[in-house]
Amino acid sequence: STLKIGLIPADGIGHEVIPAAKEAILALGSSIPKPEFFLLDAGFEYFKRKGVALPEETVQVLKNECDCALFGAVSSPSRKVVGYSSPIVALRKELDLYANIRPVIAVAPTPEEKPNVDLVVVRENTECLYVKQEVLTTGKHGKEARATRLITERASRRIGQTAFDIAVGRPRKHLTIIHKSNVLSVTDGLFRETVRGVPALPESAGRLDDVTVAEQLVDSAVYRLFREPQIYDVMVAPNLYGDIISDAAAALVGSLGLIPSINAGDTFVMGEPVHGSAPDIAGKSIANPLAAIRSAALMLRHLGYGDAAARIENAVDIVIRDGRILTPDLGGSAKTQDVTAEVLKRI
Ligand code: NAI
Ligand code: MG
Repeated sequence: STLKIGLIPADGIGHEVIPAAKEAILALGSSIPKPEFFLLDAGFEYFKRKGVALPEETVQVLKNECDCALFGAVSSPSRKVVGYSSPIVALRKELDLYANIRPVIAVAPTPEEKPNVDLVVVRENTECLYVKQEVLTTGKHGKEARATRLITERASRRIGQTAFDIAVGRPRKHLTIIHKSNVLSVTDGLFRETVRGVPALPESAGRLDDVTVAEQLVDSAVYRLFREPQIYDVMVAPNLYGDIISDAAAALVGSLGLIPSINAGDTFVMGEPVHGSAPDIAGKSIANPLAAIRSAALMLRHLGYGDAAARIENAVDIVIRDGRILTPDLGGSAKTQDVTAEVLKRI
């Protein structure tokens, strides 16, 4: 059998870091099924040439041919461009990738020293304010803008299940539910109650009883994240809070060029480095490939290839800890290809 992997570099440094991730997967040899790659179009550059940001063919190949995918980054114009909308948002919807999972670990903690940041943000990826139902009206005192915030039991339950499943597989087995139900008692109340109820579901069948559960209001969660990040293990949040928490958590450990994520659904998983298209360094061969390489590892672990994932992750850790061959964002002077070659050697 083969492992069919869609590759969507999209824009900017996506074209530099996705090939690096591909090489890392190839370096695994026979510890995974033979990989077969499908290079697919999407993004703002493609939109400027062809008038669409996410060609139908890309969606069809992902749905019908691929087991998983790696996405680079998209450039989003800061002014509204008629006809353009983000392909990554569309892909999450098309493939029902309802969980955004982002592990944040202190840069290369040595085995001896206790790492003080080792957490995973599990963000609901499909609803909340991001359903983008906004209306502008004119009232007695001027313009009035309203947005709909959708929280459903179904989406809260499945993100809760994802979060509990991740927590039960980690040493500390601790889950923190992020919400603001002191103010938004209906929407955040439903999210909180539904997530809390996951261990009691028949399908959980006692499996999640070891997980300790805490709650934290989103504002104080950000505060505590900066003051005592070690208290967190797995954090689960509705879409908007999760977006903010996960970028804040990323800031705790330095360069965006290090932080991976996956977008996961029941039948598909897409790895995606957290960073954007980095137009300031695109084309210079100095983009840090480690976030993309780590995203490939997360994708493989999600598919059940934990040993293969660990080989990639350990190789990356060794290269960071060694410190001699790193890109400029980490204080080094190496090129993307040099760092990639170093990782491949360690795999
Ligand atoms: P960015 O993440 O592209 O860059 C922020 C800073 O970090 C830049 O100085 C960049 O050079 C640096 N950086 C990012 N990734 C790096 C890497 N792998 N190696 C070395 N340095 C790296 O965020 P920015 O500048 O706010 O956005 C640029 C474009 O990317 C925008 O069009 C934005 O909309 C888009 N973007 C896309 C995302 C996605 O595809 N999921 C996420 C964030 C931004
Ligand atoms: Mg974000």
